[in-house]
Amino acid sequence: MNLKLHVWRQKDARSAGRFVTYDAKDISPDMSFLEMLDVVNEALILKGEEPIAFDHDCREGICGMCGVVINGVPHGPRKATTACQLHMRSFRDGDELVLEPWRAKAFPVLKDLIVDRGAFDRIVAAGGFISVATGNAPDGNAIPVPKQAADLSMDAAACIGCGACVAACPNASAMLFVAAKVSHLGYLPQGQPERYTRVLRMVEQMDAEGFGTCTNHGECSSACPKEIRQEFIARLNRDYLKASVIDRPAADRGGTG
Ligand code: SF4
Ligand code: FES
Repeated sequence: MNLKLHVWRQKDARSAGRFVTYDAKDISPDMSFLEMLDVVNEALILKGEEPIAFDHDCREGICGMCGVVINGVPHGPRKATTACQLHMRSFRDGDELVLEPWRAKAFPVLKDLIVDRGAFDRIVAAGGFISVATGNAPDGNAIPVPKQAADLSMDAAACIGCGACVAACPNASAMLFVAAKVSHLGYLPQGQPERYTRVLRMVEQMDAEGFGTCTNHGECSSACPKEIRQEFIARLNRDYLKASVIDRPAADRGGTG
C-alpha cells in the first residue's frame, strides 16, 4: 500500500504547529498503524530529517499511551480499537490521512502528535484510590460482591486513560474518563468508605484542569476504544448530586447502590 499522510508537526509546546505531507510507501496491510509510522520515521531518519513524535508503549491496547486523531476520529476508523491495534488493512491503497494530536486545552501539545495527559494523573491522584485497609487477596475473596456490581465495576475498570473521549467531545469534557474511574471503585464494597468524597474531589480537579462539561453529545463513548458507556456519566452525576447535598461523612458511610 502507498498512502499520503498530512501530519501535524509542532516543535514544542510554545511553537506554532503546521501540517507537513509525507508519503508512506510499501506499507503492508498487516502492519499496525504505529508500525506504519515507524516505517515513515525510518525513511525520515535516513534522509536526516526529524522523525514524527508519537506516544506509545504496550502496543497491545492496554496502556492508553497511544492516541492520534486520524481523519478527524480519535484512534481512527475502527470501533473499539486503539491506534496501536489498528491495522493498515482498515485503509485503502492511495488513501490520504490527516494525523493530529488530541485537541483540548487541558492536553497541551508537547511535540507533534504527543500531548501532555498529566491532567488525568492529577484527577486520579485527587481521589481515584482506596485508602482503607482492604487486607490481602484472600480477604478480598471473602467479601461478597453482587455479580451485577462486579460486572459493572469491571466494565468501568476497562478504561485505559487514553483521552480519546476528551479529544472526541466538542466540549473537551473528561466526564467519561472520570465516570469510569469513579465507578470502578464506587461499585465495590471496598470503595464505599470514600465514595462521596472521591467524586467531589475528582470532579473538582477535573474542573480545575480546564476540561469542559458534558452536554450529552455521546461522542466520547463512540470514540472510546474500551466502549465505556455513557450510563457511567449518569451514575457520576447521581453520586455528585448526593455528595453535594448531603452530609459528606454520613454519605461516605452510604450504601452500594
Ligand atoms: S473512557 Fe475510554 S476514551 Fe476515555 S480515557 Fe477511558 S478508555 Fe480512553
Ligand atoms: S500503545 Fe498501549 S494502548 Fe496503544
